Amino acid sequence: ALERTLEGVHVAISAGGTREPLDPVRFIGNRSSGKQGYALARVAAQRGARVTLVAGNTADLATPAGVDLIRVGSAVELKDAMHKVAADADVIVMAAAVADFRPTSLTGHKIKKTSADPDPITLTKNPDILVELVSARREGQLIVGFAAETGDDTTSVLDYGRAKLRRKGCDLLVVNAVGAGLAFEQENNAGWLLSADGSETPIPHGSKAQLASVVWDAVTARSTEPQ
Ligand code: PMT
Repeated sequence: ALERTLEGVHVAISAGGTREPLDPVRFIGNRSSGKQGYALARVAAQRGARVTLVAGNTADLATPAGVDLIRVGSAVELKDAMHKVAADADVIVMAAAVADFRPTSLTGHKIKKTSADPDPITLTKNPDILVELVSARREGQLIVGFAAETGDDTTSVLDYGRAKLRRKGCDLLVVNAVGAGLAFEQENNAGWLLSADGSETPIPHGSKAQLASVVWDAVTARSTEPQ
């Protein structure tokens, strides 16, 4: 039998990628399919949570049973939706891949092809939604971030994750390694669950639902801990 360990808990989850419009038909986007965020929503609902899922662009995914779905396009739309939902959420999970920048100007008409060299696209910084949610945090609210990292010669995926946890100020951070068969668009994921108290739990290679179970187990352990 499924343990309803999240009964009475309202969780707000973001999923998918944002699309930053250039003109009415073009955008800058990313490869997030929403599969990880949807898996988090499905597992939370199975464990009895009330789930609000805020989804940007995703693959063609079925909305998990019992989950309230809100659709958004750009990072700014995602930000507005998350702030509204967060006002009433006990747990927030940011699994969305949010564009760090958006085109500075949005052309009202389709950009025309001309024989001259095209104008460069200039970009403006988007708000960091996770950082904002952390500073607006309600008493007792638990905030979980995600980080998709590729390592380089000098710094490992895990080191980038540790630095990001500190910078963002969230309680938990899932670091997933981007690579063959993992993370963006894939069925599987793997990585670490880092906690602000310093604990680091490896998450073995497995389905996105398995990773979701690790996250919800950690959330439940924290909320039942003696304060
Ligand atoms: O959707 P899938 O195809 O299943 O893939 C899942 C995933 C790889 C997209 C997901 O598991 C994941 O890692 N999501 C975060 C992607 C990422 O690279 O995040 P980031 O390092 O840019 O940002 C770190 C955290 O800050 C994230 O929680 C992100 O949601 C948040 N953020 C980032 C930028 C921004 N402007 N606002 C934010 O809130």
